[in-house]
Amino acid sequence: MTQEPQGRSDGAASTVQKDGTLSVTDNRTGRSYDIEIKDGTVRAMDFRQIKVDEDDFGLMTYDPGYTNTASCRSAITYIDGERGILQHRGIPIEELCEHSTYLEVAYLLIYGHLPTEEELSRWVYDITHHTYVHENIKSFMDGFRHDAHPMGILLASVGALSTFYPEASDIDDEEQRNMAAIRLIAKMPTIAAFAYRHSLGLPYVYPDNDLSYTGNFLSMLFKMAEPKYEPDPRLEKALDILFILHADHEQNASTSAVRTVGSTRADPYTAVAAGVAALYGPLHGGANVAVLKMLQRIGSVENIPDFLETVKQGKERLMGFGHRVYKNYDPRARIIKSHVDEVLEATGKESPWLDIAIELEKRALDDEYFTSRKLYPNVDFYSGLIYEALGIPTEAFTVMFAIPRTSGWIAQWMEMLRDPELRIARPRQIYTGPRDQRYVPMSER
Ligand SMILES: CC(C)(COP(=O)(O)OP(=O)(O)OC[C@H]1O[C@@H](n2cnc3c(N)ncnc32)[C@H](O)[C@@H]1OP(=O)(O)O)[C@@H](O)C(=O)NCCC(=O)NCCS
Repeated sequence: MTQEPQGRSDGAASTVQKDGTLSVTDNRTGRSYDIEIKDGTVRAMDFRQIKVDEDDFGLMTYDPGYTNTASCRSAITYIDGERGILQHRGIPIEELCEHSTYLEVAYLLIYGHLPTEEELSRWVYDITHHTYVHENIKSFMDGFRHDAHPMGILLASVGALSTFYPEASDIDDEEQRNMAAIRLIAKMPTIAAFAYRHSLGLPYVYPDNDLSYTGNFLSMLFKMAEPKYEPDPRLEKALDILFILHADHEQNASTSAVRTVGSTRADPYTAVAAGVAALYGPLHGGANVAVLKMLQRIGSVENIPDFLETVKQGKERLMGFGHRVYKNYDPRARIIKSHVDEVLEATGKESPWLDIAIELEKRALDDEYFTSRKLYPNVDFYSGLIYEALGIPTEAFTVMFAIPRTSGWIAQWMEMLRDPELRIARPRQIYTGPRDQRYVPMSER
């Protein structure tokens, strides 16, 4: 038995022993069972032995939305939702934002340790030298309508990468897995920037290997006629911090999608495309777009009380608030908030929405409706304001999330492949429909 295991990534910290047994009595049969508790968790399959008779399938657990089901063991990201703590490989997110870079964090997530100087320079070199995409990717991107959503373009293009690198389907080959990791992290900003330029009808800008990861991305987004784009170091740094903050967040919807598709032994490009697809949804990666639209709809600070009233009446949600795991201030939101002013200063822009956001947060945190439900700002509440200040159009916000999350998806995919307990993801259901019906011919319906 262990005390205080590294344990569940959910803030269920306590000094009580987490291991032991659970005694369950089935009142239908009067029989009792001892179920093992390990890391504060019971195995759903241990309940299958609980049957009313030999023909019984056995007890299942029901958990729509997987709100209380651990789908894997993971050593990548730790979240204590009650206390608002986020750590990657044990290192607090605040320390990573202060001392590290996005590419170093990507290495940390994937390989499990901070790189040595030599490992880091090799890693940065490899990523920098795989940023180009095959010219055919450019041509098929041209096939999208001028107003195609950049997430749709990204989704299709990342999936298509698997056709350019068919060797990546050899997922048991470590070399291939590493190459796919490098290629995905390297090419994601290129595809994202091409998608953005496509929507504006602007020519694509090729990667510039002299620039940093974020500096090159800014160049591919915004370079016009100048021979060399010189990114503002403040914006480069702010974007790098945003990328660190979005790199991984354990078993969220998109990561679970990557793991689900990956569990079928699909190649990594296809698995990551599933992650992009899940991130597209407004309740996940699309929330920062919804936040900005909400702030625009509110329009001015005076309208905040009326808006909050409609939220409390359940007519709409305060976007950027609330989180399945955080029942406290999302630590990422705190860090982003501290960088909004810096970005505005660097761009020389004024955000008409910042005052509304700050006042909205203040009032919500003063309101019993939100405090009693433990609804606090999440990562999306302020990220949209920074993206807007950077000149990124709203439709491209989710793409800005997908770029850094790629390293988390890959880290989780690689960890999954090494898991001795890996099985194809295949949930059960409770069937509620009719049985043994007769097929009714068309003439009798
Ligand atoms: C993130 C989110 C989907 C988590 O949902 P969840 O864990 O399933 O939480 P629930 O939907 O069960 O909400 C619990 C309660 O809080 C309320 N609630 C949750 N988020 C709310 C929000 N943003 N605004 C108003 N009320 C909210 C629910 O109405 C519910 O109230 P009730 O108990 O009176 O019915 C949800 O908080 C949300 O929709 N937030 C806005 C979208 C967003 O910012 N997403 C980005 C996440 S990083």
